[in-house]
Amino acid sequence: MREETGADVGGAARADVGGAARADVGGATGMGVSGAAGARKLGVGIGWRHELDLSIERMAGVDFVEVIAENVTPAHLPESLRVLRSRGVPVIPHGVALGIGGADRPDPARLAHLAACAQALDAPLVSEHLAFVRGGGMEVGHLLPIPRTRESLRVVTENVRQAQDVLPVPLALENVAAIFGWPEDELTEAEFLAELVERTGVELLIDVANLYTNQVNLGLPAVAALDTLPLSHLAYVHVAGGHEHDGIWHDTHTAAAPQEVLDLLTELCSRTDPPGVLLEWDDDYPSDADLVAELDRVRTAMSLAGRR
Ligand SMILES: [Fe+2]
Repeated sequence: MREETGADVGGAARADVGGAARADVGGATGMGVSGAAGARKLGVGIGWRHELDLSIERMAGVDFVEVIAENVTPAHLPESLRVLRSRGVPVIPHGVALGIGGADRPDPARLAHLAACAQALDAPLVSEHLAFVRGGGMEVGHLLPIPRTRESLRVVTENVRQAQDVLPVPLALENVAAIFGWPEDELTEAEFLAELVERTGVELLIDVANLYTNQVNLGLPAVAALDTLPLSHLAYVHVAGGHEHDGIWHDTHTAAAPQEVLDLLTELCSRTDPPGVLLEWDDDYPSDADLVAELDRVRTAMSLAGRR
């Protein structure tokens, strides 16, 4: 690992980006209804982490990367990311602390930080989660599922519009691995995202490992979600591994993806040609050879799709 000057805030969901560089995004156009997702080609990528910086630099077959937005300072990008950008490798800022699914409007400082990251990295888009991470002044430290009600949809629609107005590039939202569901839910997550796309044109980051997690832990059918999600607005896909313990799937991003997750990727690829697929690996890092092998498993899963 190379020493970096960028801030590493560790506990990502608790990241305080208040002091982050503010970009002048006055000229930003935002993005209303977007049809660009399908036209943008990213390829197969991996989540950039400080611990993997040199591995990713020398690894063949990494078409794009994603960086946790709260872990970088736009004015002092890690050297490894500058190297990748100089090679033309797209770098997508991936936020974890905006909490766009919360009742509060998106924090202008956090939006400014995401915008600054996008500009510094010349990113094609920014991604975040359909989740809430704080309420009543309390930081949860976790990506919590939102109540999927019509009222909540109205609030989140406005939150997304406000974010789109500030961001200089399109926004994609990710489905989360939920640790519980709200009893008042009126819509499935896929239905909620479909309505949100319809209203805002927001793009989708579909995490098939999160779909799998929700299927195992909450009994939510993953393939049915793929049938409901508006995949024409798919920006890219996440794949990750985890561990089962006492019948509960823990989406830890610390192991090879189980075959069931790769099968879901194949299912998704049978419905659409995803612009990008990205492997998330966050700890217990394997050898470079093992990471390359995991990316090969991803490509194989994609190639098995008989497109409809
Ligand atoms: Fe993910």
